[in-house]
Amino acid sequence: MNSPQDKIILDACCGGRLFWFDKKQKNTIFIDNRIRKAGHDENRPNHHIEPDIVMDNRKMTFSDKSFKLVVFDPPHLIGKEDGCRMIKQYGCLNAETWQDDIKKGFNECWRVLEDYGILIFKWNDASKKRAEVLKIIEKTPLFGHPNGSKIPTHWFCFMKMPEDKK
Ligand SMILES: C[S@@+](CC[C@H](N)C(=O)[O-])C[C@H]1O[C@@H](n2cnc3c(N)ncnc32)[C@H](O)[C@@H]1O
Repeated sequence: MNSPQDKIILDACCGGRLFWFDKKQKNTIFIDNRIRKAGHDENRPNHHIEPDIVMDNRKMTFSDKSFKLVVFDPPHLIGKEDGCRMIKQYGCLNAETWQDDIKKGFNECWRVLEDYGILIFKWNDASKKRAEVLKIIEKTPLFGHPNGSKIPTHWFCFMKMPEDKK
């Protein structure tokens, strides 16, 4: 599938779109692999997950090089879906398969990104440290929170350089 018209940005696991200033940003396609209506989390009654398309980011149906910007903010807590409040909102990593899941999701984000496109990857160290995750991804960010940062949430910026420009 080509990216829907005018959609040059992909949020590959949008959840409740909490970090979006404009939650209906018109150039963006929002995907997630689950739907949760308002009320699913009693602690945050307005939280809801209603992606434009329900899709698994490990096997997206978009064509190669469809987007100029991709944001990848996967779950970062090992656990079970019926777990704590954080997991209700942010989903969870499967203890057995998480490395493979992150690798596949990241590789798919990379595939659908055009040359010189930007990938923003967000990670939180709560269950797994950033060094382990960056090793799995096997790509070096251009910049991001420095190693040793006391802040547990890390933002990384990658650019997809064409092979001959590396
Ligand atoms: C950390 S939350 C995203 C939070 C979001 N950035 C926000 O601002 O609210 C991670 C999301 O990834 C989704 N997710 C987990 N596995 C996925 C997959 N394989 N494909 C698509 N979405 C997935 C979860 O359902 C969850 O909503």
